[in-house]
Amino acid sequence: MIPNVLAIAGVDPSGGAGILADLKAFSALGAYGTGVVAALTAQNTRRVDAVQMVAPSFVAAQIDTLLADVRIDAVKIGMLGSPQVVEAVAGRLAAHGVRRIVLDPVMVAKSGDRLLAAEAVDALRRLLVPMASVLTPNLPEAADLLGEAEAGDVAAMRSMARRLRALGPAIVVLKGGHLPGDTCTDIVEDGSRRIELASRRIATRNTHGTGCTLSAAIAALLPRHADPFDAIREARAYLAAALAAADELRVGSGDGHGPVHHFHALWPASRSAD
Ligand SMILES: Nc1ncnc2c1ncn2[C@@H]1O[C@H](COP(=O)(O)OP(=O)(O)OP(=O)(O)O)[C@@H](O)[C@H]1O
Ligand SMILES: [Mg+2]
Repeated sequence: MIPNVLAIAGVDPSGGAGILADLKAFSALGAYGTGVVAALTAQNTRRVDAVQMVAPSFVAAQIDTLLADVRIDAVKIGMLGSPQVVEAVAGRLAAHGVRRIVLDPVMVAKSGDRLLAAEAVDALRRLLVPMASVLTPNLPEAADLLGEAEAGDVAAMRSMARRLRALGPAIVVLKGGHLPGDTCTDIVEDGSRRIELASRRIATRNTHGTGCTLSAAIAALLPRHADPFDAIREARAYLAAALAAADELRVGSGDGHGPVHHFHALWPASRSAD
């Protein structure tokens, strides 16, 4: 059966991150995509100029109306923006008994712009993190969630992944993309099993939305795998191929961070728009 997957996230009009990117990743990986908009941004590949919150009651209404009709096999949660929206999402997902929740605790955009009010971190940690099947923080988000300094190497990431697991999610994917070096290492920890997924760092500026794409890919693939670690491995391989093909796209001025190529496996290469 084709999985129905829901993204609850913000809108990045440039389509490289947020709910538009999530829908691309779902589609590329054979899942039917649905979406609940939790926040709006005025954003391009360079920066976020403005954020418009969506009323928490309207986020709740979108979830209730959708789930009254559509079977949802997995959810990816991205930018929520405020503690009130965090509360609304946690409450409605619990009420509907939704399974397979991938929580990407988005706090700051690649451009450095803040996407989650500082006071919302506590609500996220208390209400949503314990509901997550998979939690996918980057290094600054992991540090904020734990109230600790950022990990500076893979050894520090290992112990941080264990402490993040103790906050309640079933699995932690601690992303090491922000560490310097030729290798990107992610730690996957479920409390009894830990694997380290290392891959060559791909040389491209087009890394806008790597985190969104990875968490959306995991949500799309979880219903297809008995072992969630296999879904995480496949999602990472998909992202690596999307990064490797990213320079085929010409989106943005080139001095920001352009998007990854979500449809690298479906579109013939070198079809030029010029
Ligand atoms: N240049 C790269 N080459 C290969 N893999 C990368 C590269 N940059 C990031 N990754 C991988 O992409 C995923 C996202 O990692 P990252 O730490 O960049 O997340 P993020 O900061 O949440 O991203 P975003 O800014 O899009 O939210 C991880 O699996 C990481 O290992
Ligand atoms: Mg991110």
